[in-house]
Amino acid sequence: MKAALISVVVLLSSCACRDADDGLSFAYHRYPQLRQALIGVWLQCPHITRLYSLGRSSQGRQLLAMEISDRPGLHEAGEPEFKFVGNMHGNEAVGRELLIYLAQHLCSEYQRGNNTILNLIQSTRIHILPSMNPDGFELAASQRGRAKDWLLGRANAQGVDLNRNFPDLDRIVYLNEHSAGPNNHLLHLIKDRVQDDNKLAPETKAVIKWIMEIPFVLSANLHGGDIVANYPYDETRTGADKQYTPCPDDAIFKSLAEAYASNNPIMSNPHRPPCDMEGDDKFVNGTTNGAAWYSVPGGMQDFNYLSTNCFEITVELSCEKFPPASHLKGYWLDNKASLINYIQQVHRGIKGFVTDSEGHPIANATISVKGISHDITTAEDGDYWRLLVPGEYQVTASAPGYETVTRKVGVPHNPAQKVDFQLKNLQQKDTEEQQLERWWKMMSETLNF
Ligand SMILES: *[C@@H]1O[C@H](CO)[C@@H](O)[C@H](O)[C@H]1NC(C)=O
Ligand SMILES: *[C@@H]1O[C@H](CO)[C@@H](O)[C@H](O)[C@H]1NC(C)=O
Ligand SMILES: *[C@@H]1O[C@H](CO)[C@@H](O)[C@H](O)[C@H]1NC(C)=O
Ligand SMILES: [Zn+2]
Repeated sequence: MKAALISVVVLLSSCACRDADDGLSFAYHRYPQLRQALIGVWLQCPHITRLYSLGRSSQGRQLLAMEISDRPGLHEAGEPEFKFVGNMHGNEAVGRELLIYLAQHLCSEYQRGNNTILNLIQSTRIHILPSMNPDGFELAASQRGRAKDWLLGRANAQGVDLNRNFPDLDRIVYLNEHSAGPNNHLLHLIKDRVQDDNKLAPETKAVIKWIMEIPFVLSANLHGGDIVANYPYDETRTGADKQYTPCPDDAIFKSLAEAYASNNPIMSNPHRPPCDMEGDDKFVNGTTNGAAWYSVPGGMQDFNYLSTNCFEITVELSCEKFPPASHLKGYWLDNKASLINYIQQVHRGIKGFVTDSEGHPIANATISVKGISHDITTAEDGDYWRLLVPGEYQVTASAPGYETVTRKVGVPHNPAQKVDFQLKNLQQKDTEEQQLERWWKMMSETLNF
């Protein structure tokens, strides 16, 4: 009896503090503990991390993000950027915790010299936002027992559902499909309207600013309430409640969602009992097209795709939105490989630089792929990343004032195929002024004055 009691105490204390393998503490982190945990990672790994805030929630909590990179604070030319967002619905708590553990795991494994993690951190700039809705989480976490799992805390403190609060660019692209209008970077079309749109919650505004500023390539938004990896589009073209609505990048999105699901033994199990017993959801290999499941207007996933170069999927991690803390370790073990493998997907497709004839970078050049009506653009350094499934492609780079260049490219599964484009300046008709200027330049060089 006594011995049993002691072993229970030992078990409890070892479980509540540190896990032997990973040094992780599997407990829920309220706002002060979340902050502490991220500061802890920064103190432990100061050379590869940076802690920053995207702004404040409506109740004034910081939207804390952790950057993990070999050059924290910098976009390195040619290096892709990745992000994870958790806890957008404040009562969907598993993603928030997994992202804290992930930051701790990446730091510890880097220090241990784990080659997989070293390579990942050296080749990728990773951003982790454990909680997009810290106010909602605090409300949900303060409920007792099972009540945590109800709706309370889903919305932000103003009652706004953040995953319905983004500008609805799907409606614009569905119109443009008929008129051959723009198929990417659509936010500027309605920018004026968005700037004084007081329907945008502070959390939404902060995240929009973040995703417009950093050249993200790949992202996942972690939710709860089911177990599936969900990919664009999330909103139906027809306005139907549910209908498979492929985006132009359906093939790579399916592959990305499968990359997540296939590494999670529960998500990929076709015999898993459904979370919602009455539901008739037909998930395929643990994945679903978002709109085929149910239509979501104003979601963050489609906004990423239609306003930036970033491809985002939405991952539902658990049937229970706010499970007991004792289940957290299990969720970590089920999702750890998926989380890391999903970051590695950023190194697929093609990547490279677009420069002018003198080798100067051309920012905002267009990269288009024949057969896929969704263009992406180059970042400040002329660098670009175009996620694609394996195959043969015809890729075109163009920019106003330059000759257009098209190349045939074979794409393996990974790593990304490197393809650079050098664009010749278009011959410009000299104005008289330019002719005079050139003559003066030649004269001064010749006569050396
Ligand atoms: C390195 O980290 C990866 C990803 O977490 C893991 O799968 C692998 O087992 C680790 N390798 C070693 C030697 O611990
Ligand atoms: C499910 O995954 C298996 C294994 O990767 C694949 O062969 C199969 O085509 C997938 N099913 C569908 C319907 O995509
Ligand atoms: C980028 O290029 C597109 C097409 O050439 C143009 O419409 C847009 O205004 C440019 N954006 C910026 C920020 O320069
Ligand atoms: Zn959700």
